[in-house]
Amino acid sequence: MSDYHVPVMLCETVDALRVGTGKLFFDGTLGGGGHTGEILRRGGRVIATDRDMEAIDYSRMKLSQTADYNGKYTIVKDNFKNVLEVLSANEIEALDGAVLDLGISSHQVDENLRGFSYSGNGLLDMRMDRDQYLSAMTVVNEYTEEELSRIIYTYGEERFARKIARSIVEARSKSPIETTKRLAEIVKSCVPEGKKGGHPAKKTFQALRIEVNNELSGLGEAICDIVSKLKSGGRIAVISFHSLEDRIVKQTLKTLSVDCVCDKSLPVCVCNHKASVKLIGKYKPSAEETARNSRCKSATLRVAEKL
Ligand SMILES: C[S@@+](CC[C@H](N)C(=O)[O-])C[C@H]1O[C@@H](n2cnc3c(N)ncnc32)[C@H](O)[C@@H]1O
Repeated sequence: MSDYHVPVMLCETVDALRVGTGKLFFDGTLGGGGHTGEILRRGGRVIATDRDMEAIDYSRMKLSQTADYNGKYTIVKDNFKNVLEVLSANEIEALDGAVLDLGISSHQVDENLRGFSYSGNGLLDMRMDRDQYLSAMTVVNEYTEEELSRIIYTYGEERFARKIARSIVEARSKSPIETTKRLAEIVKSCVPEGKKGGHPAKKTFQALRIEVNNELSGLGEAICDIVSKLKSGGRIAVISFHSLEDRIVKQTLKTLSVDCVCDKSLPVCVCNHKASVKLIGKYKPSAEETARNSRCKSATLRVAEKL
C-alpha cells in the first residue's frame, strides 16, 4: 500500500492489538488501509471509518484484491467521532480493539489538488472531507486577522503568528489568496531564514489544516466512546503526530486509567470516577523505520487496555 501511504509503526500497533481469528476491530482512520489490511491478514475483522472518500475508494479497491478478506470488513464514510452511531448502525455491541492513526495520509499531502502541501502548488483546500463547506481558502481569506493569529499560534505553535496573520490580511486586500504556493511565500517572508524546524510554512499549514478539519475538538470524547465499547482486555492504540494531539491522547487515557479525578484540594472523593483502562505504554518509531520513512519521525503510539 506504499504508493498511497506508508503505514506508521504498523507491527508495533497491530501487535499491541493482539489480533486473533474472528476478533473485531475499529479502525477510525482507514487511510490507505495499512492497519486494516494487517489486521485482516492476521485473521481479524474490521469496521473502519474515514472522512475522505478518496481514501475509502482506494482502500476498497486494494482490499478487494485479497479474496480472503471478503465479508470481513465494513467501511463507512464518517468521522470517527461518530463511532457510537457507526457501531450502532452496524449492530455492533462490543469491540476487541481499536486503532486511530491520526492526521493526514501521505496521499493527501502529496496530491497537490488537495491543497495541503506547502511545497507543491494547488488551490488552498485542506478538507479531508470534500463534502464539507469550510476550506483553507475560506479560512485564509475570510477570518479576521485576530482569528488567524490565534489559530496559527495555538494550532501551529508558531511564534511569528501575529506577523504572518498581518501579512495574510495585507496580501489578500490586493487579491484573494487562492493557492498553497502564494500562501507559503507570504509565510516564508515572515519567518527568519535558517530557523530550525523544517520548512518555514510547516507550522502555519498544520494550523490551518487543524482548523479546517476541526481535528482536536472531540478527540478526547471519541477516545472515551471507543473505550466504552471495548471488551475487557480489548486494547486501543492511538498514533499521534504532533504535541497538541498527543497531549489530548495522553491526558484522556491517563484520566481513564485512574480511580478519582477530583481536585487534589478536596479531602474526600466526590467524583466516583472509576478507572476503565490500564496504560500499556508509549512507543516511538525505531531508528530503522525513521530512516526508511522520515514522515514517521514525530509519531507517538499510546496503547491502553480495557479493565
Ligand atoms: C495517517 S492516515 C491513516 C493511514 C492508515 N492507518 C494507513 O495505514 O493507511 C489518516 C487518515 O484518517 C483520516 N481521518 C483523519 N481524521 C479523521 C476523523 N476524525 N474521522 C475519520 N477519518 C479521519 C484521514 O482522512 C486519513 O485518510
